[in-house]
Amino acid sequence: MKELKDKIEEHKRNFDRAIAQVKDENAIQKVRNLYLSRKRGYLRFLFEDLKTLKPEEKPEVGQMVNDFRNYVQDKLQSLKEEFTTPRPVLKKVDLTLPGKKRYWGSPHPILLFQQEIENIFLRMGFSIAEGPEIETDYYNFEALNFPPHHPARDDWDTLYITDDLLLRTHTSPVQIRVMEKKKPPIMIINPGKVYRKEDPDPTHLPMFYQVEGLVVDIGITLAHLKGTLEYFLKTLFHEKIKIRFRPSFFPFTEPSAEVDIGCTVCQGKSKECRVCGGSGWIEILGSGMVDPQVLKNVNIDPEKYSGFAFGLGVERTAMFAFQIPDMRYFYENDLRFIREFSLK
Ligand code: DAH
Repeated sequence: MKELKDKIEEHKRNFDRAIAQVKDENAIQKVRNLYLSRKRGYLRFLFEDLKTLKPEEKPEVGQMVNDFRNYVQDKLQSLKEEFTTPRPVLKKVDLTLPGKKRYWGSPHPILLFQQEIENIFLRMGFSIAEGPEIETDYYNFEALNFPPHHPARDDWDTLYITDDLLLRTHTSPVQIRVMEKKKPPIMIINPGKVYRKEDPDPTHLPMFYQVEGLVVDIGITLAHLKGTLEYFLKTLFHEKIKIRFRPSFFPFTEPSAEVDIGCTVCQGKSKECRVCGGSGWIEILGSGMVDPQVLKNVNIDPEKYSGFAFGLGVERTAMFAFQIPDMRYFYENDLRFIREFSLK
């Protein structure tokens, strides 16, 4: 009986060693045959050996042989499952490839362009002022020398909220708000949104941006106006640009001038140019010497002080700077367009 027990122990040790080395399904099959084959498997012989024992020895050793058989069957079964269940295939990743770039978004082209304009004036010593987009009739018109029935009001199709409240049609009311609060010297620009009752078309929008400028001090002349605007436009459009001042009219400046630049599209070479209409010039901003009446309206003595002012449309200027044929592109939010201008 002892002999048979030792034999079972030894078979178990050998079996454990054999399955530790198994590397594929074939090898499992071989071990299975070795132990479980009906004809020549070790277990079959162990069961045969049982018959040689005395009847009282049989239950204990028989139990051992049975346990060993179950052990072998279970082990082989779980090994087989290990080999046959598909393992997750690890994708090969090339860690040296550049990662996928995420588009983080960027400031809107008009904001970027506005900042470019601001920076030129900030370098000249201007500071930035702001005012409300909902204005009173007084600031938008009257203080700027447009009396109630003045025909110049017709130049703006105004969006009224009440008889006295409106969406500002230009940034010029900020001139008044600044001069009411601060005495000269004044040197400010005011970028901001303005509103007009317009149907959108390639050169008009009901909402757009302007940058207003105002300088008031002792001894300010038209030469300062001209020098400042020339420097600004040459910096924005680069040295080569041609500039001209053309007499004009605004109620709040006297004299007034509109400033044109040489056409950036045809350089004055095409009689059929759709941008300049063949004239070779495009109007870029309005300007003038602050009307003495406007200074009086804010209690600044026009005998002592003088000033100049100007206003330019940001989208319009951006169109010429980047040769964009339609102002509406800025607000259609087509990412192919917007991304052209994004900060890389
Ligand atoms: N506010 C004028 C407009 O919207 C532009 C303008 C013209 C502003 C002359 C000025 C100026 O400050 O002096 O058309």
